[in-house]
Amino acid sequence: MNWSKKAILKIGHRGASGYEPENTLRSLEKALVLGVDMIEFDVHICKSGEVVVIHDGKVNRTTHSKGFVRDKTLDELKKLDAGKGEKIPTLEEVLDFVNHRVAVNIELKGEKTTKPVYAIIKKYIENRNWSYKDFLVSSFDDSKLREIRKLDSKIEIGLLPKRTKTHIVSMISELSAYSVHCSYKSKGLLNKNFIELLHKQGVKIFAWTVNDKKNIERLKILGVDGIFSDYPDML
Ligand code: G3P
Ligand code: CA
Repeated sequence: MNWSKKAILKIGHRGASGYEPENTLRSLEKALVLGVDMIEFDVHICKSGEVVVIHDGKVNRTTHSKGFVRDKTLDELKKLDAGKGEKIPTLEEVLDFVNHRVAVNIELKGEKTTKPVYAIIKKYIENRNWSYKDFLVSSFDDSKLREIRKLDSKIEIGLLPKRTKTHIVSMISELSAYSVHCSYKSKGLLNKNFIELLHKQGVKIFAWTVNDKKNIERLKILGVDGIFSDYPDML
């Protein structure tokens, strides 16, 4: 997709998780109906090796069960109710469902997600008519982003910074990052000077997770390039 034509990217956070159970196909469908440009979701690896779309390392918060995702096989995870009767989807189920209607932001949450996620991205680019522009891979963990950059020089990378501006600037240059995704509360990063600095380097800046009109307006005026929201119709 040609992002440059969009004034501001509307990003559905975990789908449209303010309306539907997060990180489920039902939530993704709602985000698409609400007209997002991109959908963000989180991934882990389960015991049988599949990449599954779920935020937490444990299933406790989003299902009625307990335990680590990494200790359950896909068959076991598929028996759980992720809300309103929805199942925990695999990454491939999500990509098939989205079917390159919008771009996807895959957040690498769980350990050992980088290589299997990359293998799936490559398969969809090479065999399923997806393109590099359809994918944005992000993580709070710099080592995962370094790993993915080593695997492929063309994958678009989003930094989820925990540290200083100096560290962010150095990571942008090391990884040739596409974007920096900041908490909307981070006034140290989401200010005119830093946004201008990133824009001069051709890097986009996105804000998460913004669920109120006042902050959405503030961030638009500041000049961010995209906003993640659980209620993407607010954008
Ligand atoms: O990627 C932005 C945002 O999703 C990061 O925080 O905890 O919602 O994954 P979290
Ligand atoms: Ca996330």
